[in-house]
Amino acid sequence: MRIYLIGFMGSGKSYTGRRLAEYLGYPFADLDALIESREGKSISLIFEQDGEEHFRAIEADVLRATQALSTAIIACGGGTPCYHDNMQWMNDQGMTVFLDVPENILLERLEREADHRPVLQTGTSIRAVIQSKLSERRSFYEQAHLLLKPQDGNEDVARLISQHHLVITGH
Ligand code: S3P
Repeated sequence: MRIYLIGFMGSGKSYTGRRLAEYLGYPFADLDALIESREGKSISLIFEQDGEEHFRAIEADVLRATQALSTAIIACGGGTPCYHDNMQWMNDQGMTVFLDVPENILLERLEREADHRPVLQTGTSIRAVIQSKLSERRSFYEQAHLLLKPQDGNEDVARLISQHHLVITGH
C-alpha cells in the first residue's frame, strides 16, 4: 500500500508524511528530494537552468518510479497532481490524501519559506500566487480519495490519516 500526500506548498505534506510513516512503520519518500538527488541539483536550479516543463517531466517520471516501493508514504510536490495525468495515476496506484490547509495558514508558512520555491518567485505577492494557483489546482486536489481539512496548523493530521488508513485497509 502506498499513500500519496498531496496539497498546496506549505500544507505540511513532508512533515505529515514523516510522522505518518513513523506511526505505520512504513518507509517515507519525498518526491522533491528524489528529483533533486536524481538531477544532482536543487529544485530551484532545475527551474532556473532547465525550465518548468523539464521539471514536470522528471517529476512525472520519478512519481512513476515509486511503483517499485511496495509500501511507502510519499509526499508529493504542490504541483504534482496537476500535470501529466499524475492524479489519475496516483489514484490508480495507491491511496491519495489531500491536506486542505486554510489559505491564511499557507500564507503564514510560505512567507517564511518562499526562498527555495521557484513557483513563488513571480514578482506578485505570495497571497496572490496562493489564490490563483489554488483555484487552478483545487479540482485536481479534490480528486483525492481522502480530503482532510486541518483547521489549525497544530492538529495531529498524521494520526488522523493513520486511523483512516487502518479502517480502509481493515487492520
Ligand atoms: C511546486 C511545489 C514544490 C516543488 C516545486 C514546485 C509547485 O513542492 O515541487 O517547487 O508547483 O507547487 P512543495 O509543495 O513541497 O513545496
